[in-house]
Amino acid sequence: MPQDKFYITTPIYYVNDVPHIGHAYTTIAADVAARYKRLEGFEVFFLTGTDEHGQKVQQAANNLGVSPQEHVDKLHQRFKELWVRLNISNSDFIRTTEERHKKLVGDILQELHSKDEIYKASYEGWYCTPCERFWTEKDLAEGNCPECKRKVDKIKEHNYFFRMSKYQEWLIDRIKNDPHFILPASRKNEVLGFLDKPLEDLCISRPKSRLPWGIPLPFDEEYVTYVWFDALINYISIHGSLDDIKACGFWPADHNMVGKDILTTHAVYWSTMLKAIGLEPPKNIFAHGWWTVNGQKMSKSLQNVVEPNKLIDQFGVDVIRYFLLREVPFGLDGDFSHKALIGRLNSDLANNFGNLLNRTVNMMKKFFDGVIPTPAAEGPEDNLLTEKASEVITEVRKLYNELAYNKILQKIWELVDVTNQYIDKTGPWNLVKTEEGKERLKTVMYNSAESLRILGVLLNPFMPQSTESLMKQLGLETSIEEQGMKSIDQWGGLKSGSQTQKAKQLFPRIEDKQAAKILAELSAPKEEQKEDGNQITIDEFMKVELRTGKILEAEKVKKSKKLIQLKIDIGTGTRQVLAGIAESYEPEDLIGRTVIIVANLKPAKLMGIESQGMVLAASNDGNILLAGFDQEPGQGIQVR
Ligand code: MSP
Repeated sequence: MPQDKFYITTPIYYVNDVPHIGHAYTTIAADVAARYKRLEGFEVFFLTGTDEHGQKVQQAANNLGVSPQEHVDKLHQRFKELWVRLNISNSDFIRTTEERHKKLVGDILQELHSKDEIYKASYEGWYCTPCERFWTEKDLAEGNCPECKRKVDKIKEHNYFFRMSKYQEWLIDRIKNDPHFILPASRKNEVLGFLDKPLEDLCISRPKSRLPWGIPLPFDEEYVTYVWFDALINYISIHGSLDDIKACGFWPADHNMVGKDILTTHAVYWSTMLKAIGLEPPKNIFAHGWWTVNGQKMSKSLQNVVEPNKLIDQFGVDVIRYFLLREVPFGLDGDFSHKALIGRLNSDLANNFGNLLNRTVNMMKKFFDGVIPTPAAEGPEDNLLTEKASEVITEVRKLYNELAYNKILQKIWELVDVTNQYIDKTGPWNLVKTEEGKERLKTVMYNSAESLRILGVLLNPFMPQSTESLMKQLGLETSIEEQGMKSIDQWGGLKSGSQTQKAKQLFPRIEDKQAAKILAELSAPKEEQKEDGNQITIDEFMKVELRTGKILEAEKVKKSKKLIQLKIDIGTGTRQVLAGIAESYEPEDLIGRTVIIVANLKPAKLMGIESQGMVLAASNDGNILLAGFDQEPGQGIQVR
């Protein structure tokens, strides 16, 4: 019988961003669903990746003097590496700069253009460069971008438009008639609210002269594709051509999981794009809430970004996975605190769950030399435990399909508590004292271990590493993935006679003194925040040592289109500096010129060559102009 298929995706993350717990949250949430479905026997495809085109990438690459492609080739690794550390079981990783993706984007554009779903028109609107989005006059918030609140520019240009407006009625009906399409329900109402206003056609191009770093429109080489039109297609480009997608059995996706910030782009742009292409929209778009830190949005300028790598180093991967999904109902916003994390680790994981495993395995060793006994004498406490287990299994399977993560964990902890109570009530330490008691003890120890096995399977999607370790301690050799959910269909799957292993604490408690130290390190109050996150103090500015220098030598770096290697005399010595200016200057014209260099920049290697500073220049649409003086200042003079 062919296996049922299940397809789940995360948004593709902006490659320029430093991965933080917000990104980790979506990815872990999708991973838990993917792992669960695998346990249920589904053939799962789980996709994540990086969004690599657009103005910000281009600017960052220009500033570094490297090509955008070199830049993204390096940066996307940060996400890939984090997902390995977080035990993310993605089936593939899509990058929007890969050929397989660019090919489908081009094909779709061509097809929509030939079907007159895309047309060219003159457009005047307010453009927000950081968000790379056009806004109409009425969208603006006090004259600024309604999303990031920054300044917008009035732009008039010809562009290509997707006839999104004609799908408005279809989309409203679809959302209203399919209660599962957009979840949670409150978010669905938000989208319907958005659709109360007339839907406009979507501008899907940007002139190449303004923004070269994008996928070219196949029917007009003067333009590239708007980043969102490009990025959304990742969910299908992974499966090949349009025919492949229809045949692969993974479309429509079961869940396009997104943060609430990008629900409209998914529910409206993506669904209508699919409709025009002749594909079904995803079966579900699930928009989860946002994490703040001390009530504030995470941002580089506020220096409050919580980095998952640091948390993993400190607490271990499963603690983070557990905490993020236990702390806040999935769909609502949450506020992150290290203190709450330590609280959950100590109470839920160390004291309740970890201790249950620890004492069971220790008693197994003490009373039965580590060999799982065959149940013998029954007792009045048994039914309560087995009935609870069966109730929890049924309920948790239902909740997994609703992505109700914190409810799943609460429910599972009911079984943790009942099993702890079972041990307390039956009192193995007393049973061992009599011959009759020893018969009962066999059942009690078997049942406690069996309940732990069930807990291991139910919790495996959340805590893959710890639950595999739990199984090993209980003497089970096959992995949980191989055992699957069916292994807990019936009580009694644990094999009597198997040898348990030495007890090992899964979640060491963090004592108060240690907690205080960790909190001081991880959540130390950052420098006083400024009103405008972009401002710096004069002291901060003075840390940058700017000096004049004379270019002594200049030569192009082999195999690089942009880099020139310079020898610069800065008064106190010479510096080797690489500058991304080869497209605007010939090396011979540079010799003898006085430039401004950042003299205390940490040396860095570009294309294997060390650069010991940075030359200041302005970049205007890719045209680079070196900063200079109207009179000769001399070498090594400080610039302020
Ligand atoms: N590149 C676009 C998505 C294109 S999908 C075709 C993008 N990228 S992003 O990196 O800015 O954000 C992606 C997702 O990260 C958000 O939708 C959300 O799922 C997650 N989060 C980013 N910050 C977050 C929080 N502070 N809290 C929770 N999740 C957040 O948008």
